[in-house]
Amino acid sequence: MVCSLRICAFLAILAIAMTVPGEAVVIRKTSPVTLPFARRLNFTGAANLLQHDQARAKALKTAALTRPGKFQKAPIVDVLATNTLSDYVAMVGVGSPPTEYALLIDTGSSNTWVGAGKAYVQTSTSIHTGNLVEVVYGSGFVMGEEFLDTVTLAPGLVITNQSLGAAIEDSGFDGVDGIIGIGPVDRTCGTLLPDATACIPTVTDNAFAQGLINAHQIGISFEPTTSVESTNGELSFGGIDESKFTGPLNFVPITSTPPASTFVGIDQSVTYGVANTPILPLSAGITDTGTTLLLFATEAFDAYLRITGAVFDAEVGLFRLTPDQFANLESLFFHIGDTTLEFTPNAQIFPRVLNTAIGGSPDFVYLITNDLGPASGEGFDFVDGMVFLERFYYVFDAANSQVGFATTPFTNATTN
Ligand SMILES: *[C@@H]1O[C@H](CO)[C@@H](O)[C@H](O)[C@H]1NC(C)=O
Ligand SMILES: *[C@@H]1O[C@H](CO)[C@@H](O)[C@H](O)[C@H]1NC(C)=O
Ligand SMILES: *[C@@H]1O[C@H](CO)[C@@H](O)[C@H](O)[C@H]1NC(C)=O
Repeated sequence: MVCSLRICAFLAILAIAMTVPGEAVVIRKTSPVTLPFARRLNFTGAANLLQHDQARAKALKTAALTRPGKFQKAPIVDVLATNTLSDYVAMVGVGSPPTEYALLIDTGSSNTWVGAGKAYVQTSTSIHTGNLVEVVYGSGFVMGEEFLDTVTLAPGLVITNQSLGAAIEDSGFDGVDGIIGIGPVDRTCGTLLPDATACIPTVTDNAFAQGLINAHQIGISFEPTTSVESTNGELSFGGIDESKFTGPLNFVPITSTPPASTFVGIDQSVTYGVANTPILPLSAGITDTGTTLLLFATEAFDAYLRITGAVFDAEVGLFRLTPDQFANLESLFFHIGDTTLEFTPNAQIFPRVLNTAIGGSPDFVYLITNDLGPASGEGFDFVDGMVFLERFYYVFDAANSQVGFATTPFTNATTN
C-alpha cells in the first residue's frame, strides 16, 4: 500500500466508519496487509544512541536468563532510562473510533501498549480486565492496566479483542506513545499480573487467529535515508512483499541457543574483507528492530577495531575513522545458514551529512558498529539492529520459527 501516514490514517478511519459495529468480518486475505513506518531522528543532545542500545541489550539478556522457567514474573531491574537518537515508529489506531498512537515497532518484545505520550482513550470497544501489565526493556519500562480493545494496523487489518497495556507509569519512551511488540509470543509470558503464568497473544497471533492474514509472519523493509524523518519503512503482516527484495529469500531456523532462542534469534558468523578475516565465530544472537546499531561481542568488536583502526569519539559516543581509513574499509560478510550477506563499507557508517547533527565533525566518518558491552557471551553475542536490517528484506516467520533475509535495491546503496 502506498500512502502517506496521514492518508493511511484517514483510510483506516474510513474503513472503521464503513464497518457496521459488532459485525464480524472474517475474510482471509490472499496478500499481505502493509503498514507504513517511519524512522525519526532526535538531535536534542540528551539522547545517547550507544547507551540506549547497550542498556537494552543487557536487560533483554538478563530478563531472558532470569526467567529460566519462562513462566515467572520478570524481575524489577534497576532501569536507567536512556533516550535514543533514532526510533522506528508506525501509526496505530486503538478503539472505535480509533485514537492514533505513534508506536515503536519492536521485534525484541511482544507486548503492545500505549499511553507513554498520548494517554489511552477508552471507547465503547474498551474492556478493562483488572489485570496489570509490566514489561522491562532496559532502555525503559512500563507498568499499566490491561485492556482488551480493537487495534487498527491498516485498512483491512482491524484486530478485535487485542490485549494491550495502558501505561500508568513508564520511563524511557520520550517522543513515542508506546510499543507494538511483534516478537515471539513467549516474550509476553510473565508480564501479566496477578496471573504470572499467563501469556498474551500478540497482534500477529490475533490477526492470524481472526483470519485477517493468511500466514503467521511479518516482513520488514526499510529503505536507508539521510532525512531526519522519513516514512520509508513497510511492515507487512501475513506474508512477504515481493516488490521489496531482489535476490532469493533464504530462511534459517530460530537459533536453539538460549537466551537468543527466546527472541528473533539466529546463528551467524562474520568475516571481514576479501581476506575473510574472522570477526565473529559462529554464535547465537538476535535480530532486533528496537535496536538501532549493529552490536558485536567485545572480542569480535575488538577484532574489527584492530583491522579498521577506528578510535572512540567520546563526544559523539561512536567509533570513528579518518577519510583515508574509510577509503580502505572493506565489506563485512554475514554468514547466516548457507547464505552470505555482504554489508558494504557504506552500510557500516553513520550518514555523513548528519555528522554535525550528532556533535561530530565533517572531517571524520562515524561507524554504526559498536561493542555489545556486558551482555556479550553465552548465547547473546550480537544484535543485528536496524542499521543492519535496513540493508536487507527481513522476515520473521513465527509459524515456522524461522527468519528470512534477501537483498534489496538498497543493499549496496551509498546513501551514507
Ligand atoms: C480475548 O482475549 C483474551 C486474552 O487476550 C482471551 O482470554 C479471551 O478469550 C478473548 N475473547 C474472545 C471472545 O476471543
Ligand atoms: C527528543 O528527545 C528529548 C530528550 O531526549 C525528548 O524530551 C523529546 O520528547 C524527544 N522528541 C521526540 C520527537 O522524540
Ligand atoms: C553488491 O555489490 C557486490 C560487489 O560489488 C555484488 O557482488 C553484489 O551482487 C551486489 N548486491 C546487490 C544486491 O546488488
